[in-house]
Amino acid sequence: MNPRAITERVAWVGVVDWDRRLFDSLIPLPDGTSYNAYLVRGSEKVALIDTVDPSFAPTLLDFLGRVPRVDYVVANHAEQDHAGSLGFVLERYPAAKVVCTPKCKALLIDELHIPEDRFLTVENGATLSLGDRTLEFLHLPWVHWPETMVTYLREENLLFSCDLFGSHLAANALYVNDEGTLFDPTGRGRVYEAAKRYYAEIMMPFRGLIQKHLATLGRYDIRMVLPSHGPIHRKPEFIVDAYRDWASDTPKNVAVVPYISMHGSTRQMVERFIDALTERGVKVERFDLAATDLGKLAMALVDGATVVIGTPTVLAGPHPAAAYAAYLANALRPKTRFASVIGSYGWGGRTVDTLAGMLTNLKVEMLPPVLIKGAPRMEDLRALDALADAVAAKHRAAGLMAG
Ligand code: FEO
Repeated sequence: MNPRAITERVAWVGVVDWDRRLFDSLIPLPDGTSYNAYLVRGSEKVALIDTVDPSFAPTLLDFLGRVPRVDYVVANHAEQDHAGSLGFVLERYPAAKVVCTPKCKALLIDELHIPEDRFLTVENGATLSLGDRTLEFLHLPWVHWPETMVTYLREENLLFSCDLFGSHLAANALYVNDEGTLFDPTGRGRVYEAAKRYYAEIMMPFRGLIQKHLATLGRYDIRMVLPSHGPIHRKPEFIVDAYRDWASDTPKNVAVVPYISMHGSTRQMVERFIDALTERGVKVERFDLAATDLGKLAMALVDGATVVIGTPTVLAGPHPAAAYAAYLANALRPKTRFASVIGSYGWGGRTVDTLAGMLTNLKVEMLPPVLIKGAPRMEDLRALDALADAVAAKHRAAGLMAG
């Protein structure tokens, strides 16, 4: 394939990975992904911005077959899905230098054993002339690792944002809203969901820094956002506004209820609790942990003001699936404000203490749990109603719901 032109001097030379279903042996990819690499041709020098997953190195080299010279390979991020083909590219272009942050250099030497003399490290705000095109490098740590940066092409106002603003979405559309080439003919709904899933799984733990980075990027005139995963944004405000909302400190009037039930008692409790929340005007995102897509749970955590985990007691503690959900929520550090636990036990245990002890990263107020013995009785159902009252009152007091 020939490089796909974006502007006269910029082309896409990436790979669409239609079949990948798991990332980092951890993150589900229901829609595949892409590894976007870009070629920038200045009047004097040529830069390749990021590479692709090493499993697709031959495809990238084939793409570059008609590109006689590459002077710089910008590595915005050291993770393998972007830097993993660097060695092959450097072999093809023996004079090319890897341009990256000092931290990225150290990681790449550790991971790929790239010789020290192949690097050109850049400080925050440094520029690199390609002749009539200029690259500016902005260190934006933790989008998604500590070494990450983004690259701004000054003369064309293009932002090569690497993981930031990305989406795991395999599509042969280059752009969001490439009509007819995404399943959603507008392109927008599908990309929004994929980008939110990506934010939830990759960016949410660094929400405070993302807020700072958005302020930094707000000082730049950005005509297009070219991420390293998923389609390009020709209307940057679409993804920037979405990030502002997701990263903001204000949650939404949503209770997230991940649960698992062994013999039906916890399920009965969850159903009563959700009915009670519904009557009180609280939106609910319910996830049966026996079957749920954890990416969808992560997406719900982006917005939810409250998390209530439903679990039976197993071997004196929470069901392992509930413990995993708590671990995930704690690791992703959402802006959740309130939490509680509901569930049933047979003879005792420390379920609530164990789960509460797993949520220490979250600055949540724990609401009174409802742990019952056996199948729910009338007073247990009333206790669930009272918990729903408490959730609604907290949301109302926080200004998240009317009335
Ligand atoms: Fe797409 Fe953090 O790599």
